[in-house]
Amino acid sequence: MADEKKMVGEVYYPAPEVVAHAHIRDYEKVHADASADLAKFWGKVAAENYEWFQPWEQTLDDDNAPFYKWFKGAKVNIVHNALDRHMRTAVRNKAALIFEGEPGDTKVYTYQQLHYQVSKFASVLRAMGVQKGDRVTIYMGRIPELIIAMLACAKIGAIHSVVYGGFSTEALHERIDDSQSKVLITCDGAWLRGTIIELKKIANEAVDRSGTIQSVICVKRTGMDVEMVQGRDYWYHDLMALPIADPTAPTQVMDAEDPLFILYTSGTTGKPKAILHTHGGYMVWTSTTLKWVFDIKPEDVWWCAADPGWITGHSYIVYAPLILGATSVMYEGAPTYPYPDRWWSLIAKYGVTILYTAPTAIRGLMRFGESWPNKHDLSTLRLLGSVGEPINPEAWRWYHRVIGKEKCPIMDTWWQTETGGFMITPLPCVPLKPGSATRAFPGVDIDVVDEDGHPVAANEEGFLVIKSPWPGMLRTIFGDPDRYVQQYWSRFAEQGWYLPGDSAKKDEDGYIWVIGRIDDVIKVSGYRLGTAEIESALVSHSAVAEAAVIGVPDELRGNIIKAYCILRQGWEGSEKLEHMLKDHVAHEMGPIAKPSTIEFVDNLPKTRSGKIMRRILKARVMGQDVGDLSTLAD
Ligand code: WTA
Repeated sequence: MADEKKMVGEVYYPAPEVVAHAHIRDYEKVHADASADLAKFWGKVAAENYEWFQPWEQTLDDDNAPFYKWFKGAKVNIVHNALDRHMRTAVRNKAALIFEGEPGDTKVYTYQQLHYQVSKFASVLRAMGVQKGDRVTIYMGRIPELIIAMLACAKIGAIHSVVYGGFSTEALHERIDDSQSKVLITCDGAWLRGTIIELKKIANEAVDRSGTIQSVICVKRTGMDVEMVQGRDYWYHDLMALPIADPTAPTQVMDAEDPLFILYTSGTTGKPKAILHTHGGYMVWTSTTLKWVFDIKPEDVWWCAADPGWITGHSYIVYAPLILGATSVMYEGAPTYPYPDRWWSLIAKYGVTILYTAPTAIRGLMRFGESWPNKHDLSTLRLLGSVGEPINPEAWRWYHRVIGKEKCPIMDTWWQTETGGFMITPLPCVPLKPGSATRAFPGVDIDVVDEDGHPVAANEEGFLVIKSPWPGMLRTIFGDPDRYVQQYWSRFAEQGWYLPGDSAKKDEDGYIWVIGRIDDVIKVSGYRLGTAEIESALVSHSAVAEAAVIGVPDELRGNIIKAYCILRQGWEGSEKLEHMLKDHVAHEMGPIAKPSTIEFVDNLPKTRSGKIMRRILKARVMGQDVGDLSTLAD
């Protein structure tokens, strides 16, 4: 209590009953214990909460840092812990997944049923020649078969590479080629806002451009007409009806450090990076973070409203809730379809107790006013969550008051594709400040430092750094270990720190306030996009000689995309061309990457070495000082 008085700013203290219910009631103590001896602490958590086919010889091997190894020598499979082991307990008959499609169809999978489907599909993949270590690309809408496909890959030791269904032809093609996938799993189409996104059509175009795919498996979701290529394409339901679809398929024994999946994400320059996660460390990290931060209990109904195609969905729709034996809700479509209360109606319908979503969704739903949520019984909610970008205090307060009725603490979780799970986050026992992700998860050593690595003074901006390893950390960039070292570990190489690429401040209470990216990554509606990819989509149009893309702050979406194009000879800027180029980007990359405005220019600010200085473009748009121009060429 003495501590509470000293805290600065707008502070929400946890209610005693919330703390009493929580798994972790004393943050300081657990954080101190974990930090004192990471290997001992995580070794104990790992031994007590999971089944290993063989124990590890060494909990943390840092000999070859930054290529850290966790649970070295252990044998495990994440699917054994997410599904197989539950077949022996009462969890078997519990709902694992409650699915609702946008048109209103619903389907519930118990753990037994999910295990059955996953095992069958795993043996289908095996029969089609997919082996341990092979890559399988998955490109689907938000339907249960997406989860089944991911788990089936993991069960046989194949590496899944999920490409978000909002991406389009070129983005999919590039990711298929980079991963050298032999098999693509897709669906005919996906429902969104009452219309169908034609995924199979996009998949066909992408497969035509790429050289590695031998087989395509297609789930029938909408029943629309699609083109199936003889000898290459198979219907999921046909394969699942064959005798090869064996529900007793064994789970592959994996090394703890064997790859579980790759997931592409945008980086500073060039093509997207394939972030690689493993069976052992990722399993421990995702499920422990979910359990402690969202206080998951057997009676909970957990709803992570993200897409399984991004890391939030991988970790907190698919793996962590299943490992914990929790019940999850998954909804296929748009939050506002057919009316702006679809989400609130789902909370009432399924008795959701914990909702985890992104600030952009909250801001979007806030626009429609309080009457929509107020029509529904939201009294089952006990905790709320936020992820993806800083949450503005106004949206935080609305979420807290209108959705949480002032009784649900908001867990603002900061993390990344690379970190596998939460890194800076409150626990239910930690006082909250709207807009701050509060403090490090137990055992995470985080700081805000200046150019030279010295901690900055309170409330000054600096680089966010992570000073020690954690079990859920990425292990490398698939196929490019040098880039892994360069991208994340070179800025503070001497100190051996990980650089997330965000700037932040730390206040008087040690609370972290994440500000935003320091690189050329743009967060649009919480989606992580790289300027380089959007620029190359623009340049792939015959009218465009050169392009530069920046993010411009936007009240609703966090950022919107603004593009600058230098046209080739013979082309002239016009409104019509602007539309054509926007559509071109949507076709190549996906609708989320579509620029909001395109400005036609004669030249772009560049460094003497020819790099585009996006920061100058941005400063100009924002009416800010352009800063140091000494490296500008012209
Ligand atoms: C941003 C998403 C502020 C941040 C899980 C990070 C956040 C990037 C928060 C990673 C948050 C994520 N507050 N910023 N609570 N959560 N970010 O890989 O810039 O899609 O580096 O992972 O999102 O995005 P990614």
